[in-house]
Amino acid sequence: MSQLSSQDALKAQVAQAALAYVQPHALIGVGTGSTVNFFIDALAHSGIPLQGAVSSSVASTQRMQSLGIPVVDVSQVDALSVYIDGADEIDGHGYMIKGGGAALTREKIVAAQAQQFVCIVDQSKRVDILGAFPLPVEVIPMAVPHIIRQFAALGGRAVLRLREGQALVTDNGQHIVDVHGLKLSDPLAQEALISQWPGVVTVGIFAYQKADVCLLATPSGVQTLRY
Ligand code: A5P
Repeated sequence: MSQLSSQDALKAQVAQAALAYVQPHALIGVGTGSTVNFFIDALAHSGIPLQGAVSSSVASTQRMQSLGIPVVDVSQVDALSVYIDGADEIDGHGYMIKGGGAALTREKIVAAQAQQFVCIVDQSKRVDILGAFPLPVEVIPMAVPHIIRQFAALGGRAVLRLREGQALVTDNGQHIVDVHGLKLSDPLAQEALISQWPGVVTVGIFAYQKADVCLLATPSGVQTLRY
C-alpha cells in the first residue's frame, strides 16, 4: 500500500469514529479539508438523520448538498451540539493550527458556536509545539505588505499564498499569508497578539477555539484524547 493510501485509510478510520459524536436530529458544524471529506461521506452513508449541518466552506457545502445532507446557514442557528473538523497541527492542550485549506475564518466562526469541538486527525498532525506547519493568516489585501513586515519583526517569514500564479482569494474575498519559522510556544498569547493587528481577518491559531476532543488515527486504532 502506498504512503498516500495508508494515510487516507487513517483519515477514513477517524472519520468513521467521529460519527459517534453525531446525535440523531442534531444541528452540527462541519469543517473543511480532506479528512472532513471522508467524514461527510461517512455521515451521508450512515443514515443518521440530522436537523441540519452548518458548513465552514463553499467546498464542504457543495459536497454535503451533493450527498443529500441538509445544510443550514450559520445565521439561522443559536447553537451547535458539535463541530467536527480536521487540523494541520494539534498539540497536547488541544490547541491547533488550521487554515491549510484557506477556510479558517468560517471554521473559527462555526467552532465558536459549538458546545464541543471534535478534531479528527491522523497521527502525522500531533505535535509537541505548534509551528512547523506554516501558520495561515487571512488578511485584507491592502494590508498584506504591512502584515508581512509585522511577522518579519517577530522572526517569521510570511509568504502570500498563490493559486495558479495569482494571489489566492478566500471564500470571504481576502488573501492568505503563510508564516514560516514561528515557534508557537504560547498559542493563547500569540493568537491574541496577531488577531489585533489591523488588516488581520483571522489567524490560524485555534487556542481560544481549541479542540475538546481529538480523535487521533494511528495504525493500531483511533485514540480519543480529551483536553
Ligand atoms: C482548512 O482550512 C483547514 O483548517 C483544515 O482543517 C486542515 O487544513 C486539515 O485539512 P486536511 O484534513 O486536508 O489535512
